[in-house]
Amino acid sequence: MGVLLEVKHISKSFPGVKALVDINLTVKEGEVLCLAGENGAGKSTLIKVLSGIYIPDEGEIFLNGQKCNFKEPIDSLNAGISVVHQEHKLLGNMTVGENIYFGRFPMRGGLVDYQKMYADADAIINKLGLTIKSRDIVSSLTSSQSQMVEIAKAYSRDAKLMILDEPSSSITDSEVETLLDLINKLKKQGKSFIYVSHKLKEMFVVGDEIAVLKDGHHITTKSVDELDVDKIVSLMIGRDVKNVFRPKDRPIGKEVIRVEHLSNDHASDINFYIRAGEIVGFAGLVGAGRSEVAESIFGCRKTFSGDIYINGEKIDIRKPKDAIAKKIAFVTEDRKTTGAIQVKSVGENISLVNLKAYCHYGFIDKKAENEAIMAGIERLHIKTPSMNQEVQFLSGGNQQKVILAKWLLTNSQLLICDEPTKGIDVGTKQEFYGILDDLAREGVAIMLISSEMTEIIGLSNRVYVMRNGHIKAELDESQLSEQTIAEYSMKD
Ligand SMILES: Nc1ncnc2c1ncn2[C@@H]1O[C@H](COP(=O)(O)OP(=O)(O)OP(=O)(O)O)[C@@H](O)[C@H]1O
Ligand SMILES: [Mg+2]
Repeated sequence: MGVLLEVKHISKSFPGVKALVDINLTVKEGEVLCLAGENGAGKSTLIKVLSGIYIPDEGEIFLNGQKCNFKEPIDSLNAGISVVHQEHKLLGNMTVGENIYFGRFPMRGGLVDYQKMYADADAIINKLGLTIKSRDIVSSLTSSQSQMVEIAKAYSRDAKLMILDEPSSSITDSEVETLLDLINKLKKQGKSFIYVSHKLKEMFVVGDEIAVLKDGHHITTKSVDELDVDKIVSLMIGRDVKNVFRPKDRPIGKEVIRVEHLSNDHASDINFYIRAGEIVGFAGLVGAGRSEVAESIFGCRKTFSGDIYINGEKIDIRKPKDAIAKKIAFVTEDRKTTGAIQVKSVGENISLVNLKAYCHYGFIDKKAENEAIMAGIERLHIKTPSMNQEVQFLSGGNQQKVILAKWLLTNSQLLICDEPTKGIDVGTKQEFYGILDDLAREGVAIMLISSEMTEIIGLSNRVYVMRNGHIKAELDESQLSEQTIAEYSMKD
């Protein structure tokens, strides 16, 4: 097979950051090149160079031997490169079909030919085996469904090279399977891909070669046959990651939270408790109602019924402020809308909920505040030129780390985590698991909502499995296995 894409000596810097340094890569026709690397390694920056969003400081791009001169995204699209970006932006008030064909609506007699557009969109949706409809309004879709719309959009352009930047971080396991099958099918038809993921196992399902980036440098590219997950990890972070989870011999204390008969529009009659020192997992499929339970506890949902007890005392939580006053912390799933303020600095975001702790007689103790912020940045290895950098300029995974740092600093008694490690690299995950264990040992009660089975099983003392808004099972440590959890998540 011939060479499709050649990247030669590409470099790109931002103020204070060398995001890419002399990168050389090739993608052959009908092959999948996977990109691995820690948060902030430069993966998305490289993709933005290939898609005409960033103009490189140095270097050249060749497609089918032709030198490309991408000045804006349309140039890259026209050359046959189609990208699904890590932080996607669909138009929420438009339909799925309109989003897929935005900017290139089929026309007839001077008007948009909606009938053709929706028929074409449905054909693509069917081909991809998706459950959405072309006339669905995008804002009504779940995050995993809108991710699939992005993929449908890229697919509909019939590009030579499709680039997927962490397509699997917010879709369900069965959708990941559909996606990987599709990539393998398109590969056979001669299409090429660049595939980025922190779920390294996926690379062995679709990948031909794996390129590893570290701190903006290209470390190596090897065929998948020469690698395994452990080898990639040690190339990525320069050390081995073994024994990711610590033993669960944490001392368990008194009950911190008890929830009785909680119901809202996504969950009904939820009963559970979490004691000090316990990590309690909430497993289930996406849409099972786990996030909505957490949102009710944190005061993010207007209407719900049922009782919440903190330290044995019945409490009334109407807004997040009430929950924060009871020392409840909430690491949210969606970093864009509820987690971090994009236009504020890393430091401001981290100290936001915690500001009171640094106030003395009406003055903010800047030194104490800055020390706490620096400790958070160091503990989670947040890659940023300084604490003054706006969050929007950090890599995806580093934005998520800012949210973790912000809540981990709060000295709470109940920590609710909703998909906390989404988009976070393996090394930092291990670090984060260690921090959760430390907090639990200090007596914090932890509610862990996660779709990653290994994480749930590796950390939890007990697990509640939810399905369709109900708790279907409570499993103790000895009962925890992927199979048992999967069975309860799917069985009615
Ligand atoms: N527009 C920008 N302005 C300033 N710095 C930036 C900008 N875009 C990226 N960076 C920096 O460049 C580096 C590489 O970021 P990039 O987004 O490419 O990482 P990544 O490998 O995709 O990481 P992740 O796995 O977290 O998505 C990071 O240090 C990031 O903060
Ligand atoms: Mg990225």
